[in-house]
Amino acid sequence: MSAATPPAQSPTERRVSARIGSISESATLAVDAKAKALKASGRPVIGFGAGEPDFPTPGYIVDAAAEACRDTRNHRYTPAGGLPELKAAIAEKTLRDSGYEIDPAQVLVTNGGKQAIYESFAALLDPGDEVIVPAPYWTTYPESIRLAGGVPVPVVTDETSNYQVTVEQLEAARTERTKMVVFVSPSNPTGAVYPRAEVEAVGQWAVEHGLWVMTDEIYEHLVYGDAEFTSLPAVVPAVRDKCVVVNGVAKTYAMTGWRVGWIVGPKDVIKAAANLQSHATSNVSNVAQVAALAAVSGDLEAVSAMRTAFDRRRRTIVRMLNEIDGLVCPEPEGAFYVYPSVKGLLGKEIRGKRPATSVELAEVILEEAEVAVVPGEAFGTPGYLRLSYALGDEDLAEGVSRMQKLLGEARD
Ligand SMILES: Cc1ncc(COP(=O)(O)O)c(C=O)c1O
Repeated sequence: MSAATPPAQSPTERRVSARIGSISESATLAVDAKAKALKASGRPVIGFGAGEPDFPTPGYIVDAAAEACRDTRNHRYTPAGGLPELKAAIAEKTLRDSGYEIDPAQVLVTNGGKQAIYESFAALLDPGDEVIVPAPYWTTYPESIRLAGGVPVPVVTDETSNYQVTVEQLEAARTERTKMVVFVSPSNPTGAVYPRAEVEAVGQWAVEHGLWVMTDEIYEHLVYGDAEFTSLPAVVPAVRDKCVVVNGVAKTYAMTGWRVGWIVGPKDVIKAAANLQSHATSNVSNVAQVAALAAVSGDLEAVSAMRTAFDRRRRTIVRMLNEIDGLVCPEPEGAFYVYPSVKGLLGKEIRGKRPATSVELAEVILEEAEVAVVPGEAFGTPGYLRLSYALGDEDLAEGVSRMQKLLGEARD
């Protein structure tokens, strides 16, 4: 036995399974929890950690849910794969927003986008299957790929390409074990939005090599300026037989707490994922599904108002962050995150400390400026910070001012 091999344990000695024991806590939720705990203890912490809109869910959606509570049909189990009327509305919404037709049997309603991601990988991957994941990536993808027995293969991008991966980079990462590629635009954590030509190029490359695509469209309605959202299966129809689309109501309708998402995909994969869900969680809460039905079958007025506020905050945060020496913040075109490089600040002295990594810098910022940000390590790229600008204008300005003051003290 080599020194690195852990001693064999019998099944009764092993407490947590190796599979689950190897998963790390969601770093973004951990930062948010730490910030909330400090706030509860009386410290005036401003949190840029959580990826959730600060707006309440629109009233007509809440009213639909309140009514649903009184309907006894919703007090019972319903089909595990989702309420038929919600699946039909998601099919119509797909036609409205992405411009292509799907059958409601191609929809599985899940407990948020996160369950959609987990179930997509679980339904498609066998042990050892490789999945190419452009980095910086949202922290949930590699963990759910590993949970399904797959192997995440990161392809690292940086601020010089606006965090957009090229087909050449993807091709360099492809092996005979590659089964899937993950494609996310607008992106969490970078806010990058791929132009249509690039989306097409990635889709065509996947088709050419028979690869599956998991595309996450949860930020489809949050794009700014001249940027436009492009749905990959809409512009590359040939990919549809090997494509799963993840989406949900959380970000578009300020409904993070309601927990409704969905997968759109080929019927056999949807059936397999629905079988898994039927044993894991059964149907998503009926009240939340009725709320989601009101959301997706209504208009997009509420998201348009939120988009205006996010756009204003986006411009403010980019301007203020770029005033800090040693920090470089590209202007994102979508979602509600900025992803500045802080490489120019690492190793400098700040109030008697010398943070050498972005994790350490984020700790100094939390302790000294009482501002919570997520270090790039959580997204597979050390040397960066993620800040969500889905918080109030005043908090945003105050939080970044505190960072300016603190980081302005950095010395060699
Ligand atoms: C890219 C992306 N996909 C999916 C989700 C999951 O959203 P939810 O599970 O709240 O529906 C998130 C949430 O942060 C996200 O950023």
